[in-house]
Order: sequence, then C-alpha cells, then structure tokens
Amino acid sequence: MTRAKIVGVGAYAPKHILTNAELAKLVETTDEWIVQRTGIRERHVADDSEATSDLAVRAAQQALERANLGPEEVDFIVVGTTTPDMVFPTTANFVQHKLGARRAGSVDVLAACTGSIYSLSIGSQYIQSGKYRTVLCIGAETLSRITDFTDRGTCVLLADGAGAVVLQAAEDGAGVLDADLYSDGKYWEYLYQPAGGSRHPATAETVAGRLHYAKMKGNEVFKVAVRMFGDCAATILERNGFRAADLDLFIPHQANLRIIEAAVKRLGLPMERVLVNVDRYGNTGAASVYVALEEAWALGRIAPGDLLLLAAFGGGFTWGAALVRW
Ligand code: UT7
Repeated sequence: MTRAKIVGVGAYAPKHILTNAELAKLVETTDEWIVQRTGIRERHVADDSEATSDLAVRAAQQALERANLGPEEVDFIVVGTTTPDMVFPTTANFVQHKLGARRAGSVDVLAACTGSIYSLSIGSQYIQSGKYRTVLCIGAETLSRITDFTDRGTCVLLADGAGAVVLQAAEDGAGVLDADLYSDGKYWEYLYQPAGGSRHPATAETVAGRLHYAKMKGNEVFKVAVRMFGDCAATILERNGFRAADLDLFIPHQANLRIIEAAVKRLGLPMERVLVNVDRYGNTGAASVYVALEEAWALGRIAPGDLLLLAAFGGGFTWGAALVRW
C-alpha cells in the first residue's frame, strides 16, 4: 500500500525572543500568571522585514535538505497559515517562487491552528492517490501581526514560527496511516479576526476600532478545545485498532500546557510520551505541530517504526488528528 512518508522535517523560529517579563511591561500581567495559566515562558517574534513566507521558506529549505531533495523535485506545496503575506496571492505562491520549486502547484489552507493537520492530510491524499510523488506541507505564522499588544488575554499566547515536512510515496509501511479533519462554524465568535475581509473591509474606523487584531473568548476556547482534542484523538486511535498505550509519542498543538495536560489525562498517556515546547514557543498556530515534530526528531525522540499521534484545534472551530508510522 502506498503511503505518504515523512522524509524530511524542518523548522524556523525568528531570532527575536519576547519574554513574559517584557510583556508585563506592555499589559497588566505577570510572569507567574502566564506560566501558571499557560505554561508559556517566552516566544519568538518576527522582525519587521519578515513575512510569513520568509519563515516558511526557511523551514521548507531545511526539510528539503534533510530529505536530500532539491526544490525542482517538489510536485505540490500546501501552506497552512492564518496570517498570509497578503490577502492574495497565496503565501504558498511566494514560497514556491522563493524556493525555486519550478514544477510545483501550490495552495494555502486556512484552518487556523489546525492548519498543520489539514495541510498534512491534503498532502498525503495527493500522494496516496498517485497524483504526486513529492509534496511539501508547511505551517507558518506571523501571529504577532494580528496580536493586540494591549489585550492581555491574547498577547501572552500568540507567537511566530514555521515548520515543514516533505512527503514522498513509500511502500514500506511507514507514513501517514490516517488523518481526520473536523469543523464547526457555530463557534466562530470564540476566535476570529473581525476586519480585513469582505465582511468588514479595511477602513479608518476598523483600524481605529482595533478590528484587525485577533479576538478570543479564551475560556470558551479552552473548554471546547479540551473536549474536541480528546475526542478526535480517541476516535482516530480506535478506528485504526490502536490504544493510547500503543503510542510512542503524542505531538499536540501547543496552545496552552493546561489544555495539553487535560487532553493527555483523558487519553490516559504518561507525560513522558508527549512533546511539549509551548514554554519556549507559545502558540504558533498552524506551525505548532510541525515545529514540535521537528524538535522531537532533532532530539532523537522518534525512531523508525514509532507510532505518532498529531492533533490540533483552532479558530473556526477546526480540529483534527493524524496517525503517523515513522
Ligand atoms: O489555538 C487556539 C488558541 N487559543 C487557545 O488555546 C486559548 C485557550 N484559552 C486559554 O488558554 C485560557 O483561557 C487563557 C490563558 C486565555 C486564560 O486563562 P484562564 O485561566 O481561562 O483565565 P480566565 O479567562 O478565566 O480569566 C481569569 C482572570 C480574569 O480576571 P478576573 O475577571 O477573574 O478578575 C482575567 O481578566 O485572569 C485575568 N487574566 C489575566 N491576568 C493576568 C486574563 N489574562 C490575563 C493575563 N494576566 N495575561
């Protein structure tokens, strides 16, 4: 059976690090509150010259190098992002051009923080169908650009970064075993950016009203996220005949340590089998699962044959999970 095997991983975090202490100078918060309620200690923030595609290209180049592939071998590029360079053309278009991926078609997928799972699922379907041989899946965000640094409910969470995987057709049993995608638009008001689209195009009023920044009902997001996270993880395991005990590593979306811990408890997994890096990266949206996967790989926490579960949730609401045999 042909599967989409992950043959290269890459990640990129902007150089500038924003600490909790620095945020405490901008809004009424403390390092202690942020660490206790979110687990976050610091996050990376892009500088003025960096747009989302710049971060994406760095992660993609590393993933391609590690896969020993050149950009001209890429057939298709999927970029998960909530913070595109421009409304159009797509960020994937910029990535395709900057990489020199001459043969590749490209598309953006906007599934908020679930952009990693959505892009992985789309990429793996193209491989499994036989349409493409090499697909680059990327999650990249500059969430700092839609963060209101006067809103303590969001500015302590959101961050910038990019991660990428190269998928290639393989017959050796390794690869994406399954991926489930979900959405429920009735929750849209829990997490959204009001202005800048066709509903509220940019005007002096929308700018004055700070409507181009992400708005979040954090508490509501928290409750729904814990439930959906746990449910989709349990569903994909069961349908594929696995138990949580079969997992070698769980790589969850890094939004809040307490959400990860609650989901892990529901799954009945020991924390030693969970990759957590939210303390150093914050919530990098569509990038987070790929950034965490790259860290797991670089630390030698993944070996051939390992069973991995990736799961994410985000604005929309969107959520999803993927099972990967390494
Ligand atoms: O990818 C998906 C993205 N979003 C998420 O995953 C967010 C999910 N939600 C969360 O992570 C949490 O709900 C937050 C971290 C946003 C908030 O934590 P919480 O424990 O749910 O706090 P809360 O909203 O219930 O607020 C408790 C108190 C409130 O004060 P009062 O009304 O009790 O006086 C808040 O105003 O904490 C206050 N508060 C803060 N205090 C210090 C909210 N943010 C802060 C802050 N520093 N940064």
